[in-house]
Amino acid sequence: MAYERENIHSLSPYVPGEQPVDMKVVKLNTNENPYPPAPGVLKAIASVGADALRRYPSPTADGFRLAAADLHDLDPDQVIATNGGDELLRLALTVFCDPTGNSGAGGIGETWPTYSLYDVLARIHDTPIIRVPLEEDWSIPQGFAGRLNDAGCRLALVVSPHAPSGRYESCERLRQIAAEFNGVLLVDEAYVDFARLDALELIRGDGTMDNVLLLRTLSKGYSLAGLRFGYGLGHRNLIEALDKARDSYNTDALSQAAAVAALSAQDQARASCGRVVDERRRVGDELARLSWWVWPSDSNFILAKPPESGPNARDIYESLKREGVFVRYFDQDRLRDKLRITIGTPEQNDALLRALTARA
Ligand SMILES: Cc1ncc(COP(=O)(O)O)c(C=O)c1O
Repeated sequence: MAYERENIHSLSPYVPGEQPVDMKVVKLNTNENPYPPAPGVLKAIASVGADALRRYPSPTADGFRLAAADLHDLDPDQVIATNGGDELLRLALTVFCDPTGNSGAGGIGETWPTYSLYDVLARIHDTPIIRVPLEEDWSIPQGFAGRLNDAGCRLALVVSPHAPSGRYESCERLRQIAAEFNGVLLVDEAYVDFARLDALELIRGDGTMDNVLLLRTLSKGYSLAGLRFGYGLGHRNLIEALDKARDSYNTDALSQAAAVAALSAQDQARASCGRVVDERRRVGDELARLSWWVWPSDSNFILAKPPESGPNARDIYESLKREGVFVRYFDQDRLRDKLRITIGTPEQNDALLRALTARA
């Protein structure tokens, strides 16, 4: 006897990248930052006293909101702290989308392919999903907002830099989409710390749009995937609505202290992202030398296609895994002939390149 709702019963849950326990593995599969977080983060965690643990934390993570507002030149009421960027996605669905009912409208619109959690969350919420295929170069097709409007979507989910291609979408293009769309445009900037630009100008000063929400995370650029801390930035009305629907204490005292310390250590975060960007260039060049097709990336990973003359992407993925080098393979349209490779330390990247050169 199944007691859960039908949409949960039939749900295929989100499949995260493998997390092998063997620390010797060369782990280039889940887009973690290969460098440690800033020392100030560990000190901040250690300095949280017994009293701070005995008491409930700030429900709205006020210290963090102030720090984030200061960093991004926004007002604190334009910031919401969440338990990872993933919680912001779940909140956005809860707040802006209708479960199907009989109308079939009120759902999410997404480009395709995209971050696979979007679909899982939409299915949990029982809300319709409209997929619009990306162009050959992974750009968002003209007419994207119109298609979503026609389908009655209330929330558009756009990843920029895009996962898994790494392509950055210009602010101008995002502004155009937001202006045309009749719902909320969530720009998922999980990987923005490795990009040349960001979309902050859409929510700042005179240019502020009332339907744009940016997702940020400390998981990638700040090397804190284990902390589970993300945040949303946007018009105060959107933030106020999201705030009504979050758990009473959605971020804890330890992670709030760590997150404030992480934001204040900008130099360290920038330095580690810079090293990743340098290595991204080198790994891309080396793969191209081995006749792989490499898409330009503004992220901490690259999408690459092996030469047709050799083994296919799945075989390479599996044989690399047997040798202890983990990359990501997606068995789905447009991706099954490619691998997504997280940029690691120079030593990790060398291990990958050595393994691939041996196959060339
Ligand atoms: C595109 C994208 N968005 C959002 C997230 C959420 O990140 P987190 O929940 O770790 O903050 C991820 C994580 O991998 C991601 O790839």
